[in-house]
Amino acid sequence: MPASATATAFQQCLHPDCRRTYGVEETLTACPACGNLLDLEYDWNRVPVPKSLKEFEARWSTRRNPLDCSGVWRFRELLPFAKDADIVTIGEGQTILQSSAAVGKFVGMNADRLFLQYEGLNPSGSFKDNGMTAAATHARMVGAKVAACASTGNTSASLAIYASTARIFRVVVFVGSGKIAYGKLSQALDFDARTLQILGDFDDALERVREVAGARGIYLCNSVNPFRLEGQKTIMFRILEALAWEPPDWIVVPGGNLGNSSAFGKAFAELKKLGLIDRIPRLAVINAAGANKLHRLYEHQKLRWNDGRTDDAMIESFYATMTNEKRRASTLASAIEINRPVNLKKCLRALEVCDGVVREVSDQEILDAKAQVGAGGFGCEPASAASVAGAKLLRDQGVIAPSDRVVCILTGHQLKDPTATVAYHSADAALFAEKLGPHGVTTAPFANRPVVVENNLQKIIEALEV
Ligand code: F0G
Repeated sequence: MPASATATAFQQCLHPDCRRTYGVEETLTACPACGNLLDLEYDWNRVPVPKSLKEFEARWSTRRNPLDCSGVWRFRELLPFAKDADIVTIGEGQTILQSSAAVGKFVGMNADRLFLQYEGLNPSGSFKDNGMTAAATHARMVGAKVAACASTGNTSASLAIYASTARIFRVVVFVGSGKIAYGKLSQALDFDARTLQILGDFDDALERVREVAGARGIYLCNSVNPFRLEGQKTIMFRILEALAWEPPDWIVVPGGNLGNSSAFGKAFAELKKLGLIDRIPRLAVINAAGANKLHRLYEHQKLRWNDGRTDDAMIESFYATMTNEKRRASTLASAIEINRPVNLKKCLRALEVCDGVVREVSDQEILDAKAQVGAGGFGCEPASAASVAGAKLLRDQGVIAPSDRVVCILTGHQLKDPTATVAYHSADAALFAEKLGPHGVTTAPFANRPVVVENNLQKIIEALEV
């Protein structure tokens, strides 16, 4: 009998014809038997689960305990794979849900129906910290000395901050050359991560880091690591908490490597199974049009989860055509500039669980939505604004009703990518043309142009009066 058969938490292959299980003490990023993705599963009959989500509110009064302060670990009964003593936390998940009247109006919602979930408020400035705390915890459980990831920037910033603060492992990050926003690169460097700029894009970097991790026994922290996705489930728990445990009608999230959407679907499936919610929100995953593999596979080719028996031949031939035609992802939303989303199958399952839809939005729509989030909220990086642009599109199409309660996930902080923001608002036509033009952005209807004024009191006062 494998150790996993008697454990309360174990890893399990998602393919229905395989379903092999592995213990949590193993470091795996795919099923060794069949190569499919692994899930973390629990024997829910043997772990203490609250009778009602409201019970988690008791943790608000014990916030001196770092585990109760963490926005991830105060829900630890819903991701019960680690002993308290093993948990690595840096105070992640102190993020908030806010209703935004201005952004709601832009999207076309009735008053108080549009909410923004600011994951940019995490320690490293993106949602990745929700997952990285879980991966770092597992890395400690298995005694990892070196951890690595490939990244479009945020995963590397997150892994680097956990390494620099927790100091339990060293870290190597692989980034694509010229493909990473400066805010993110500066974080990896400043947090002292060994940073390899691969002469290629994100997909190349991910392929290489997987090989290196396998060859050198390095702990891999990309979202193929099933532990990471357990942490990302808690974004949904916090949204439910902010809405007094009443599920919204829609969750709208940008789609890149599809870890978030996968984790959200798993969170809702588990909550429903445990009887902790009675209704599952619908999920909208939004691709950038320049990196739209999920959109094409799901909406055009009608690829479905199909109880785990996905049409792999269709996926392979789709990717082969892409390679033959030398089509590579290209979007200003560099965080989601991804060719082959590794969590595709888990995302298909989430779309099934949540009666989901997939849409694509142009870089123009993304930057316009981003400017609206900045003017009517805390701001976000370009990839994050895909959620708001996607909500607007679904509203325009009548898929989202104006009276629905909609939560857009803002995955990363505004300061992650100042280049795109400044180019959009700037009055410098050459900068606009250089940075945004190649991505089909031709106008900036919501630009807030800086005003150039002579160094003269009278002129400044005149400028104020305009
Ligand atoms: N938004 C931001 C700001 C991101 O950094 C990412 C992914 C996504 C959305 C997409 O999320 O992969 O769960 O669908 N960034 C990864 C990285 C790829 O390396 O930082 P997903």
